[in-house]
Amino acid sequence: AEYLPEAPERRTDLSALERAAEACKGCDLYKDATQTVFGAGPADAEIVFVGEQPGDNEDRQGEPFVGPAGQVLNDALEDAGIDRSKVYITNAVKHFKHTLQGSRRIHAKPSAREVTACKPWIEAEFAAIKPKAIVCLGATAAQAILGRDFRITKQRGEIRETDFSPITTATWHPSAILRNPEEDATQRMYDDLADDLYAVAQLMT
Ligand code: URA
Repeated sequence: AEYLPEAPERRTDLSALERAAEACKGCDLYKDATQTVFGAGPADAEIVFVGEQPGDNEDRQGEPFVGPAGQVLNDALEDAGIDRSKVYITNAVKHFKHTLQGSRRIHAKPSAREVTACKPWIEAEFAAIKPKAIVCLGATAAQAILGRDFRITKQRGEIRETDFSPITTATWHPSAILRNPEEDATQRMYDDLADDLYAVAQLMT
């Protein structure tokens, strides 16, 4: 059954939300994860970035986007002229879902049910921050926030109004760029990502 320690939608304080999320058992992912990885960044951030879920490094360190995907994101933010310390970065799912290959922990895609179970947390983060813009990174976040029919390949960079923000958009996930085996495509995707972030930055002025 859905169990949230305290109704997140009634909380408006980010640090109180984060503490409440530490004990979340809304789905089973908490069982194999080290800790809840909540969003990070200032409560007055204008832009909120939404990834999929913490990876191996994030699970150990308790912070979003601190591993290899975070490095790609850092590069793209810098190229777009966005100061990472001024934005809020979070994930659609707040526990690391993985399978074991020997002692290696391999990323596993969260199910629609797990994304739905986690959604009250991100809705509460949006309600607390009231972002001018939300940037979804990859399909999991885009489908959670922009709808199940959203296709990154066709619709990345489109600006939509949602209940959460007047400017809601989606772009490639940094990990998709790292995973792409073709060098040309990798460069093109990185350029798309940086361009999409730059376009959002221009809307903030
Ligand atoms: N990938 C994500 O989607 N989120 C993180 O925090 C790290 C990697």
